[in-house]
Amino acid sequence: MSDAAPGVLRVGVSGAAGRVGSAICAAVEAAEDLELAGRADPQLGVALADILGDCDVVVDFTTPDTALENAQACLRAGVHVVIGTTGFDVDALRDAEGANVFAAPNFAIGAVLMMRFAAEAARHMPKAEIVELHHDGKLDAPSGTAKRTAELMGGDVPIHSVRLPGLVAHQEVILGDVGQTLTIRHDTTSRESFMPGVLLAVRRVGDLDESPVVGLERLL
Ligand SMILES: NC(=O)c1ccc[n+]([C@@H]2O[C@H](COP(=O)([O-])OP(=O)(O)OC[C@H]3O[C@@H](n4cnc5c(N)ncnc54)[C@H](O)[C@@H]3O)[C@@H](O)[C@H]2O)c1
Repeated sequence: MSDAAPGVLRVGVSGAAGRVGSAICAAVEAAEDLELAGRADPQLGVALADILGDCDVVVDFTTPDTALENAQACLRAGVHVVIGTTGFDVDALRDAEGANVFAAPNFAIGAVLMMRFAAEAARHMPKAEIVELHHDGKLDAPSGTAKRTAELMGGDVPIHSVRLPGLVAHQEVILGDVGQTLTIRHDTTSRESFMPGVLLAVRRVGDLDESPVVGLERLL
């Protein structure tokens, strides 16, 4: 078990070799109040179980078919978990005990604002559709952000998914009314956009008074 300096949180990253996970490792290493306690990823030959004993918090950016199992393993070990992985049912963790769960379909502040503005606009304009566009390595469709946006807008909003090389993560919410449309668009041009939100969640997950908590807006 690694000993961190007092006040320093020991953070493990699950999916550490991935596009987002590798950026999180760098962000944790650069933060003075956080210690990178372990990198778990089959690509690195390290299992999550191998690092749990060294961690206060685990950040999971893996795949839809493994995120739930990973979160349950963290909770059984009494380790808080911050989940960015999309395409699985966070509600399955509703009665889980042992530690806290924080999940967000999008950790970029601009995307959180897009969702808030879209929810506000939907109260005033009758019809809307969502177009979400992502890189072609993304496994789930529609995106977690699009599903969450539709939910916040009151439900019945068609979603169109585009998967192409060259894209990172983008979303347009197009609202229509007689003689006018309104388009609200967010573009993630670099995965660094997610880092401030992820680090905020890492620092706060241990103090949540309920679990799971879903959505970065709950911490702002
Ligand atoms: N919430 C957000 O803000 C946000 C932002 C971007 C991506 N995402 C989501 O995060 C997830 C990861 O995205 P990505 O683009 O980094 O994917 P990626 O494919 O680049 O990385 C996933 C990594 O997880 C690893 N992995 C698979 N099974 C594992 C296991 N059991 N334990 C540990 N690691 C395991 C893979 O080997 C891979 O390196 C996706 O679900 C994506 O939709 C969320």
